[in-house]
Amino acid sequence: MITRTESKSIKLIPIKVESETVTEFSEQSHLEEALHRVQKTTDPRLKEVLEAFIKHMFAFVNDVKPSEKEWMAGIQFLTEVGQKCDNVRQEYILFSDTFGITMLVDHHNHKAVPGVTESSVLGPFYREGAPAYQNGESMCQDSAGDPVVIAGTVKDVQGKPIANAKLDVWQTAANGFYQVQDPLQSDFNLSGVYHTDDDGHFEVRTVKPVSYTVPDDGPVGRLLNATGRHAYRPAHVHFVISADNYKPVVTQLFTDDDAYLRSDAVFGVKDSLVIHYTPEDKGYKVSYDFGLKSAD
Ligand SMILES: [Fe+2]
Repeated sequence: MITRTESKSIKLIPIKVESETVTEFSEQSHLEEALHRVQKTTDPRLKEVLEAFIKHMFAFVNDVKPSEKEWMAGIQFLTEVGQKCDNVRQEYILFSDTFGITMLVDHHNHKAVPGVTESSVLGPFYREGAPAYQNGESMCQDSAGDPVVIAGTVKDVQGKPIANAKLDVWQTAANGFYQVQDPLQSDFNLSGVYHTDDDGHFEVRTVKPVSYTVPDDGPVGRLLNATGRHAYRPAHVHFVISADNYKPVVTQLFTDDDAYLRSDAVFGVKDSLVIHYTPEDKGYKVSYDFGLKSAD
């Protein structure tokens, strides 16, 4: 037990010292000490995550051996990522998406199951509260584009149709912007909620989506540019499919002839999610069935 003086009142504050032993600094002793500092974490999952974070960050620094200038550049980058965020713009999600981390988290949370639609990233532009439409009604309020009908059935893993399943659908307009990014579009343009009928059937009427760039005017865009990467996502329509007593699926359907299908800026494409737009008299038709598994 030692004491020290503190504040102008010269109050004596006791400080408990757990060990008088001072270990010589080394990479190993420093790691052990950093891990020791989180041993009193009461939440076991938080403790597990913090221990892994410390181990991986120490390994990263030991591997990269950044100069102090480089370390500050990294801190400055993360600072700018935070400063770029607001109610609509989410630069951290963009950072996670464009370096493949979001899809890795998605993979560990949604393992492929036969008969269940594969998942993909939610993306930063989902907005709750989209208007409900009847099957066959268009969610396109004021956009140009080729008309398309996306129709199919929502089924369980045994192939049985699911009645009253909910499909939350959204996509960009022909100018490559989601409505939440573009004040010139009507509220909830190209966003809608549909429900399957008694036979599990749905019919979404919209316009053919276009490829677009993720926001690349911030620090993440600079990093993409520095790595020689483009910021394009292949054309796609977002879906969240849910039903009572079933596990929801967050996914996207990608246009099969898109130039960016194999280089999606956010790594979201899976083969089972690629669809073909069949030309019809007044636009295109797409047939696609979704699969849900029971909630455990
Ligand atoms: Fe998107």
